[in-house]
Amino acid sequence: MTDKKYINQNIEPLNTKRNDKGNLEISGCDLVELAQKYSTPLYVMDEVTIRENAKDYIKAFSKYEKTHLTFAAKALMTGSIAKIFDSMGFGFDVVSKGEIYTLLNAKIDLSKTTFNGSNKTQEEIEFALENNIARVSVDNFLELELLNKIALKMNKIQKIHLRITPGIECHTHEYIQTGQIDSKFGFDLHTLDCAIELIKNKYKNLDLRGLHAHVGSQIFETQVFYDEIEVLLRQMKRIKDKFNIELDEMNIGGGLGITYTKEDRPPSIFETADIIMKSLEENTKKYGLNKPSLYIEPGRSLVCTAGFSLYTIGSEKKVEGIRKYIALDGGMADNPRPSMYGAKYCAVIANKKEEAPELVTVAGRYCESGDILIKDIELNSPKAGDILCVFSTGAYCYSMSSNYNRVLKPSMVLINNGKSDIIVKRQTLEQLVQNDVILERL
Ligand code: LLP
Repeated sequence: MTDKKYINQNIEPLNTKRNDKGNLEISGCDLVELAQKYSTPLYVMDEVTIRENAKDYIKAFSKYEKTHLTFAAKALMTGSIAKIFDSMGFGFDVVSKGEIYTLLNAKIDLSKTTFNGSNKTQEEIEFALENNIARVSVDNFLELELLNKIALKMNKIQKIHLRITPGIECHTHEYIQTGQIDSKFGFDLHTLDCAIELIKNKYKNLDLRGLHAHVGSQIFETQVFYDEIEVLLRQMKRIKDKFNIELDEMNIGGGLGITYTKEDRPPSIFETADIIMKSLEENTKKYGLNKPSLYIEPGRSLVCTAGFSLYTIGSEKKVEGIRKYIALDGGMADNPRPSMYGAKYCAVIANKKEEAPELVTVAGRYCESGDILIKDIELNSPKAGDILCVFSTGAYCYSMSSNYNRVLKPSMVLINNGKSDIIVKRQTLEQLVQNDVILERL
């Protein structure tokens, strides 16, 4: 292991510093000025960090020519973010008509996109096929039948992967573990053969190209990826022997972790890529198989570190002898991860350099005791009006945000070397009520 730290091993985005005014500055943008210009709460994404990170992925896998890099859209999906990944040659992992529509709306075709999901609807599958989705990762028997029917009706042969649960556990939060046997996702190893039998003998409009698995998210152990590939190749060998079908594609999902706090020690993209390629090398040899095309679907590790959230500090409450709460103008509706997973975050006051550190608990504005963004953090004597920067909010914050308490969703700004542009507008009150139907008789 080298001493060099890569993007997912840092808490802050690239080019983070204190400027002459003592304010925090990221990619040439003064965060206090951003907060003033766009108001808070505000999601900010640094384009430079996203692109450098994506370049690291491309470089790390460049030795394995048959790699297909796809961005897991569920981590952060907006038209401009999709454009960045498209411009860098990435495809997408999508899980809904809404994610597909967002791509099409940004004039991105689906030629490098895989449709995942454990309960895709007929309408969603039809939409995906009408728009020539590259691959569908089929999750269950009902979907196999439905997909074949739709493909037949459209006179198409749809290329598919079969999603399997490889029976691998990783040490992450229970809700974001997916590869273990007791999981709602995919075919288990006992039902896989039955699915293949059906594709071979009955579902003539499906072209089985490979297997797909995803073991979990926020993974720190590279061994998990080694083992996952071993399981996938073992199955591919068995399928070859039993059915005389040689699968030439494998999708290993996403999952690489990032650094939310200094206790987190994720491996770099390069270490992870090396172990993935090692497993492919060793296990294809072991099972006498050709090297398959490799699809990977990182989400968090591509965007999380590039993003941060700005809030304005408001009220405070001191519970004598216990703790001091400071309240933000945002919270669990723009970042549900702490209340959902007990996720931890780092934050600093953007407008103060060195003052007395004070131990506080950062509370959100929402009407729930559980809306605590950060429990026990030292901040520079936080006062009402200060701007708080919470790091590592680029993944699964905007995409999981809600209108809880009917608070408007914040806007998102893309920064790049001193420039800043809105890429998601703040919701308006009109938009908030636009789907309300007020009945005449009331
Ligand atoms: N591929 C599949 C099939 C997935 O289910 C996921 C994530 C990914 C790729 C991308 O995984 P990543 O590289 O982002 O770890 N909301 C949770 C995370 C849920 C992840 C669900 N699946 C969170 O905030 O931590």
